[in-house]
Amino acid sequence: MKTFDDILEQSRFDRDDLKRLLDSRGAEAEKLRQRALAVKLGTLDNHVHLRGLVELSNICRKDCLYCGLRRSNTKVVRYTVSDEEVMGCARLALELGYGSMAIQCGERSDRAFTERITRLVREIKRLSDNSIGITLSCGEQSEEVYREWFEAGAHRYLLRIESSDKSLYEKIHPQDDVHDFERRLACIDSLLKTGYQTGTGVMVGLPFQTLDHLVHDLLFFQEKDVAMVGLGPFLPHPDTPLWAYREQIPSDEERMRLTLNMIATLRLMMPEINMVAATATQTLDPQGREKAVEAGANVIMPNLTPQQYREEYLIYPDKACVGDKPEQCRGCLDLRMKSIGHEILYNAWGDSVAFTKRSARQGSA
Ligand code: 5AD
Ligand code: SF4
Ligand code: FES
Repeated sequence: MKTFDDILEQSRFDRDDLKRLLDSRGAEAEKLRQRALAVKLGTLDNHVHLRGLVELSNICRKDCLYCGLRRSNTKVVRYTVSDEEVMGCARLALELGYGSMAIQCGERSDRAFTERITRLVREIKRLSDNSIGITLSCGEQSEEVYREWFEAGAHRYLLRIESSDKSLYEKIHPQDDVHDFERRLACIDSLLKTGYQTGTGVMVGLPFQTLDHLVHDLLFFQEKDVAMVGLGPFLPHPDTPLWAYREQIPSDEERMRLTLNMIATLRLMMPEINMVAATATQTLDPQGREKAVEAGANVIMPNLTPQQYREEYLIYPDKACVGDKPEQCRGCLDLRMKSIGHEILYNAWGDSVAFTKRSARQGSA
């Protein structure tokens, strides 16, 4: 029988290994995270990349059973940040030295919306003289739209699969053709094909979720050979159907432990990818993002959304930094990262090393 230490020494892991790593706690979990940190430092150094986040709009055509922005939630006042305000965010990103922006929003597929994104991407590129990198996180779109946005200058795209297990996916979404697992998978394939640095991810600690599901998620990330992963704990929202299951999910501490174990294990499996220390981790633990970075994450997404909209972008409750000014978060994050021996790289795109290397291999093949 293999010991935990034997498993940590391996460079490939089977399902049983992954399950043991994910299930670790106490001194074993500590060893897993230290190993992941060592692998990260050896591969990517102690660098942390920032993506200034603009929560562009909370208007969403979907009704995901976990999300506070679902279209059935009538308590949300729907908003859209204006073009001028988005450009204000871009100028702020430049001033603060954030080399990259992320535009996130609820899902819409009408032409007025998709054209607006194209225009905004172009304008941010023009304003910054191409110095700002752009990540989009605007849901499922046709391959043509993904291509249009890519050609406009967006080079990274984040679309979480939410769960890579079809039956779990179906339990946390309504059963209709707006929420289709196969289509979501196809979108990830289109993004990869279009040439984006493609990111995906899952929520950890969902109702009905088992360790086997999480192992399946890790193998899915590896099989798709994605460039980025963003994963975070599930946080029950009172105005959503999954709130009813809040007593049946693992405790806050357990969800935090599982999230950190997922990050650490994935860092061992995919040493060169970009991995987000999700803001959601800080809702469960005041040191959540630091712990995520110490377990292997290397990207943080500080919020640039104009203050007046933030209370209406509560995907989950008790989001960190909702009341904090961008300047405050910049100083705060800088100190927090220094306190754990990490360094924020300003004025850089912070591309995924995994992606850059893969492109080079494909280019020379
Ligand atoms: N708890 C944690 N994460 C959530 N998301 C949506 N709702 C919740 C929740 N209640 C995540 C999803 C989505 C991303 C924008 O936010 O993974 O992809
Ligand atoms: Fe809309 Fe995204 Fe929330 Fe689903 S998770 S309801 S697609 S904002
Ligand atoms: Fe926002 Fe600390 S990162 S206040």
